[in-house]
Amino acid sequence: MHITDIIRKKRDGGKLSAEEIRYFVEAYTKGDIPDYQMSALLMAICIKGMDAEETAELTFAIRDSGDRVDLSAIEGMKVDKHSTGGVGDKTTLVVVPIVAACGLKVAKMSGRGLGHTGGTIDKLESISGFRTTLGADEFFRIVNTTGAAVIGQSGNLAPADKKLYALRDVTGTVENHSLIVSSIMGKKLASGADGIVLDVKVGSGSFNKTPEAARKLAEAMVAIGKAAGKPTAALLTDMDVPLGRAIGNAIEVKEAVETLRGKGEPDLVALCTELAALMLHIGGKGAVDECRTMAKTALENGTAFRALLDMVRAQGGDTECLTDLSRLPSAAISVEVAAPADGYIVAMDAAGYGRASLVLGAGRERKEDAVDHAAGIYVSKKTGEWVNKGDTIAVLYTNKGSAVAEAREIVLASTVLGSERPSPAPTVQGVVL
Ligand code: URA
Repeated sequence: MHITDIIRKKRDGGKLSAEEIRYFVEAYTKGDIPDYQMSALLMAICIKGMDAEETAELTFAIRDSGDRVDLSAIEGMKVDKHSTGGVGDKTTLVVVPIVAACGLKVAKMSGRGLGHTGGTIDKLESISGFRTTLGADEFFRIVNTTGAAVIGQSGNLAPADKKLYALRDVTGTVENHSLIVSSIMGKKLASGADGIVLDVKVGSGSFNKTPEAARKLAEAMVAIGKAAGKPTAALLTDMDVPLGRAIGNAIEVKEAVETLRGKGEPDLVALCTELAALMLHIGGKGAVDECRTMAKTALENGTAFRALLDMVRAQGGDTECLTDLSRLPSAAISVEVAAPADGYIVAMDAAGYGRASLVLGAGRERKEDAVDHAAGIYVSKKTGEWVNKGDTIAVLYTNKGSAVAEAREIVLASTVLGSERPSPAPTVQGVVL
């Protein structure tokens, strides 16, 4: 087989066979196809597209390109969740304990933040002592005893995706439906869970700018999960506005704990409840309505918070950081951003808020950058709320005084004031089962 024939075939709008797809994924992962040829093929895929069958084959080839995690040492059904990436998205820290408290197992591998989106591993590492790298035996033992563990992704999970994603990033080929579907589902299917719930974001902070694109993505991913023999479901959720009020690392852990202690923001509580309900449902715990009631009860009666404490303790974290939130990392500098005029907040650019948080030190531009766990933003006012000139719309936290002016500018440019009260989009906008 020759890569040039495959490039020409896709350039001319042809349909690639399973063998051709397997060939280029394996050969590229091994280093037998150079970046310039793979770039040409990726661009041909972007322009000509792939049908559902090609997309599924690409997903399975990415899944099979490295280790496939075997979770069979963990008793019972294991369910996983994945978010397509958002700003202020601390749902894993809330949903995983809820699901564990309701009797399902979650053996989760999460990522670090990149660009304007945060990552669960960075957030968890703001808890002193918390270990995000565990050997397989310890990972399985913790899930078996506490119901949940969250670790970083193993080095050899879907290596084809690591190489392809890095190349897509620098060749203008990230934004293609089939490449996104296969990238996300290839990794998720290699992670070994029995069932998967996807949180597909739509809005200014997401790569899905329209509800139609988000639904198409969700439907394709759910179909591929099912074709791989895993119960899979998706929620379509709002990312026009940051989720909850906290953006960063320690500040998001704090908000997650407050949510688990019954003091959560309505949008965050609604999303976490629905995600947990879907995970419990596909994990065989009952109808979605029954599972929603179970999830709410675990949130309200404190069992979910206790499940988080159990998991953090088992992973070496200092649980006193969670029972006394003042022990989490805190920044030397805090600066309030004042509203420049009276009005309703009529729109927010969630990605802009994510970028401001990155500038303050909470995120990373490149994979190798370090993050400042104490940095971040508290969003005091969100879309739909009224502000008087001079009211605080956000509080910036940082240890880098030189970052404040730029972050303030970005926050102000990402907050649109107007005189008409808007009706913000609901947090949960649809479900694909
Ligand atoms: N997230 C991924 O993992 N892959 C993509 O292609 C886009 C978002």
